[in-house]
Amino acid sequence: MTTNNPFPTATISVQADQPKAISPDLWGIFFEDLNYAADGGLYAELIQNRSFEYQVTEQPTWNCLTAWELVERGGGEGSLLVGAAEPIHPNNPHYGVLQVNQPGEGVGLMNAGFGGISVQAGQLYDLSLFARVLFVGERWAPHEEEANAEEVTVWAPHEDDLRAAPSRDEGLGQIIARLESASGEVLGEVQLPSPGKDWTRLSATISVSATDEAARFVLLMHQKGGLALDVVSLFPRQTFRERPNGLRADLAQTIADLKPKFVRFPGGCLVHGNGLGNMYRWKDTIGPIEQRREQANLWGYHQTVGLGYTEYFQFCEDIGAKPLPVVPAGVCCQNSNFTSGKGQKGLPLDEMPAFIQEVLDLIEWANGPADSLWGAKRAEAGHPEPFGLEYLGIGNEEHITPVFKERFAMIYEAVKAKHPGIIVVGTVGPFHSGKDYDEGWKIANELELEMVDEHYYEQPEWFWNNLERYDRYNRATSAVYVGEYAAHDNERKSTLRSALAEAAYMTALERNGDVARLASYAPLLAKRGHFHWMPDLIYFDNTRVSLTINYFVQQLFGQNAGDVSFPVTIDFPGELNVLAASCVREDASGDLILKIVSRADVPVLAQLDLSSMGAIESTASYTVLGGDPLAENLFGQTPVVSPRTSNIPASERFSYEIPAHSLNVIRVKAAPKMA
Ligand code: AHR
Repeated sequence: MTTNNPFPTATISVQADQPKAISPDLWGIFFEDLNYAADGGLYAELIQNRSFEYQVTEQPTWNCLTAWELVERGGGEGSLLVGAAEPIHPNNPHYGVLQVNQPGEGVGLMNAGFGGISVQAGQLYDLSLFARVLFVGERWAPHEEEANAEEVTVWAPHEDDLRAAPSRDEGLGQIIARLESASGEVLGEVQLPSPGKDWTRLSATISVSATDEAARFVLLMHQKGGLALDVVSLFPRQTFRERPNGLRADLAQTIADLKPKFVRFPGGCLVHGNGLGNMYRWKDTIGPIEQRREQANLWGYHQTVGLGYTEYFQFCEDIGAKPLPVVPAGVCCQNSNFTSGKGQKGLPLDEMPAFIQEVLDLIEWANGPADSLWGAKRAEAGHPEPFGLEYLGIGNEEHITPVFKERFAMIYEAVKAKHPGIIVVGTVGPFHSGKDYDEGWKIANELELEMVDEHYYEQPEWFWNNLERYDRYNRATSAVYVGEYAAHDNERKSTLRSALAEAAYMTALERNGDVARLASYAPLLAKRGHFHWMPDLIYFDNTRVSLTINYFVQQLFGQNAGDVSFPVTIDFPGELNVLAASCVREDASGDLILKIVSRADVPVLAQLDLSSMGAIESTASYTVLGGDPLAENLFGQTPVVSPRTSNIPASERFSYEIPAHSLNVIRVKAAPKMA
């Protein structure tokens, strides 16, 4: 954007006489397990395919043994197989079978996690696994009583074998679990207790002596026999808030630093799923991890659902955010089954009552007393107090069809009948306009929904050109949750230009915070090497977290949210929408927070007129995020654009130089009144 005057001037005035209460929950986040956001990402599990449930339907080269390798040391010989008879739980049908024919110096299995297991010297790692002794000695050896019987079976082993073979009651001897470097150096190890003939949960802690970014987990047996293994799990002791089955501390903290007021989860498209059988069913994601039903992730990988509803709700509580779970609307994704937009299917109507009950049970699980049926399950998981669910999403950017409408209305009406206080968030399709949007809004108006979810991914220009969108929205109908948005710059790069377009748009949301009640950028997380969608807010690998400029925008708005918004007028000659601004008051501190976004190529000399707000203290703080509009923060490098905070003299009217291409957050305090 070029302006004629190299140093143009503007007057930016705030009108104190028109305060408007805005949503206290405006800025939140949307978490979806895509780009390895959960498994291999935020969920701190270090073992990949811990339950031997990977399938060829998830990736063509995958099977139950993916990520596992047989290890044969010093003359050892054995095999690694898959078992399915007598699993730990029907939801978890496969397990690994380690068979040792010649122990040598150890036969076992190895897992290198999600591209290497990152461990740190001096830290503790909690191991747990389920094991079951299948046989001791030779697989086909008879039971002792059979071996001693006069009639020898056709499978009788050679007498040397019988002498060498341990008794079945002796167990499998020493089983060692260790963390090793790629070259085999032992970083920490522990001897496991003997498993029994039935599934036994074994646990131990491995203390690590040296830091390694790409360690491997190895489990070694030293005796002939067969061992069934499942849910082999390894967590750093230091998860976020040290919660067991918890979250990766650095990533979770990065999210917490956004100061989100709510978290929408678990999707996204993940919720409605690839076909009806792949819908995200919350009940499959609670309870002991070995009983959860894992399934394909429609983004092309696998969900352990180890990060399930208990963990999502707990995370929300830990970071002071309200949970906003999304349940399927009884239909699957319209892009299901390779059908590009035509694959929506509805649950058979005779299955809807049970499905609706599942949704009602979710509300009881979240909010019911600990002695209610589902509240008791929450209590069993360690959370007797209700979670205080306020929002519930039904459906994700659906194709708005009669099939959808019928099922959505059934679920919505049942929820409102039983829980009138829950704010249901409906859907108006995948785009900011068009047929689904119009039809979605018709349903919202018919059913008088409190809120609908709008999604849009557009070029930066679109955001600047649509700053007035919500000025025009009807305040008497449904409020809006902008559940997914992002400015997509050229090559989908996370440039300053894209971040400023989002920032400008956020000022418009803030001044319309009475109707635009919630907003969340999308997607949130992406692991290097596993991109299904770009751009994303936060990039990471196994050890590093990289913040985009867009992250800093979200953070600045999250940290400078308000309760009341005041109109701001911008008097700036020349092109429209070069500057955008909003002003809010944060009730807790009484601070006025003025946000100004500029896409001018040159600094703008602004006169800030706060005179209608009363006396202003003589110092203000200001934070600037600005630079080259095409700049990007590159992974693993010091950010080229990050916020800088300083102080300036302030008064009712003061001048402020708005740097070219910048977001500016100016905090002023009203001066104490003179006696
Ligand atoms: O945010 C990525 C995807 O974009 C979401 O899963 C979906 O709702 C939208 O299409």
